[in-house]
Amino acid sequence: MKVRVRAKNDKFEFDCREGESILYAGLRNGLALPYECATGTCGTCKARVREPATIGEGWIEAPGNGYLKRERGEFLMCQICALADCEIAVPANLSRTSAGTSRPAWTQGRIRNLRHLTHDVVAFDIAVDDPMDFEAGQFAVVQVPQVQGFRAYSMVNYAKAARSLEFVVKKKPDGAFSDWLFGPGAEGADATVFGPLGNAVFRPEEERDVLCIAGGSGIAGMMSILARGCRDGYFKSHKGNLFFGVRTMKDVFFLDELSSFAAAFPGSLRITIALSDEDVPVGDERPNGPVDFANGFVHAVASERMAGACDDITAFIAGPPPMVDGAIRMLIVDARLPASQVRYDKFS
Ligand SMILES: Cc1cc2nc3c(=O)[nH]c(=O)nc-3n(C[C@H](O)[C@H](O)[C@H](O)COP(=O)(O)OP(=O)(O)OC[C@H]3O[C@@H](n4cnc5c(N)ncnc54)[C@H](O)[C@@H]3O)c2cc1C
Ligand code: FES
Repeated sequence: MKVRVRAKNDKFEFDCREGESILYAGLRNGLALPYECATGTCGTCKARVREPATIGEGWIEAPGNGYLKRERGEFLMCQICALADCEIAVPANLSRTSAGTSRPAWTQGRIRNLRHLTHDVVAFDIAVDDPMDFEAGQFAVVQVPQVQGFRAYSMVNYAKAARSLEFVVKKKPDGAFSDWLFGPGAEGADATVFGPLGNAVFRPEEERDVLCIAGGSGIAGMMSILARGCRDGYFKSHKGNLFFGVRTMKDVFFLDELSSFAAAFPGSLRITIALSDEDVPVGDERPNGPVDFANGFVHAVASERMAGACDDITAFIAGPPPMVDGAIRMLIVDARLPASQVRYDKFS
């Protein structure tokens, strides 16, 4: 099916497969359509259709539908498939993705190496049939036959032409995908994957110091950023600061990996774990090593320790939306960092 797009600046056209969302089809064909979550919650992918009968209904309860004027034909491109050739209007200037940027693509994979990192966090890999090139900080959407809809997960690893994508998932109470993942039968299960996606990307060529603020499983994409930075020796000539927020010591994971990153670049890569619900342990209970600990909400700890040191940085933020909003406010309003230097993913 053909999707014709009227944008503010130009007209475009691309092919859409049966059952494929208009957003995923457009991105796959190299059109930089607007989106953030790619999974129906943020409302960023809003568009308007001339003839509503040419598109499907999608996920009726999608939280992002709350941002729409349905009577004007508005819909979420990430949730809606074309049923016939259609014409849509996107209220933005659009461009083709630049050469050298890898376009997202479909692939099939299998879940393997599923393991518990804490009582409510698991890690797993997806072995994909087609290798994926992605930037540190990007995510993919994953679907399994047992659960309706796609879920977005940030890659933990960093590799070119990756045959294995590594993920970490925090259990959400009554969450459909995480319930399934924590139950029996997920190891070895088939998964459909579309990626890479996301603009909260680490670009070493920008030559800026790096600040990462992560809440819970928001650490996923930060691990990828640190993996790339450490592999390329970026922290020999740039400072890195990572703040990882969890509730208590029993919620801490990736401590060995974070310690290895910090130990490789002493003095220039500083990693702090912020405990929001308990005091920092003392004596024998405090882990030895190069990772520091602090008490408080992660964005407050970052604000205190980064005071006066936010001039020439790129900041990456990921995790629960209230934590991300708090960190964005701290950086843009309080530290006056330009919005273009603040990149985030809200795990809604
Ligand atoms: C960019 C991005 C990156 C993320 N990265 C991570 C990560 O690395 N680790 C992590 O733990 N979490 C991550 N998340 C959150 C993750 O995508 C899930 O929201 C979370 O795991 C809860 O999923 P669930 O199925 O357990 O909960 P649910 O409440 O069942 O579903 C949560 C989300 O799934 C989608 N959804 C639910 N039902 C449907 C349906 N019927 N049809 C279509 N879509 C539906 C919606 O987006 C909904 O908000 C990320 C989110 C975003 C936006
Ligand atoms: S990108 Fe479609 S609702 Fe977020």
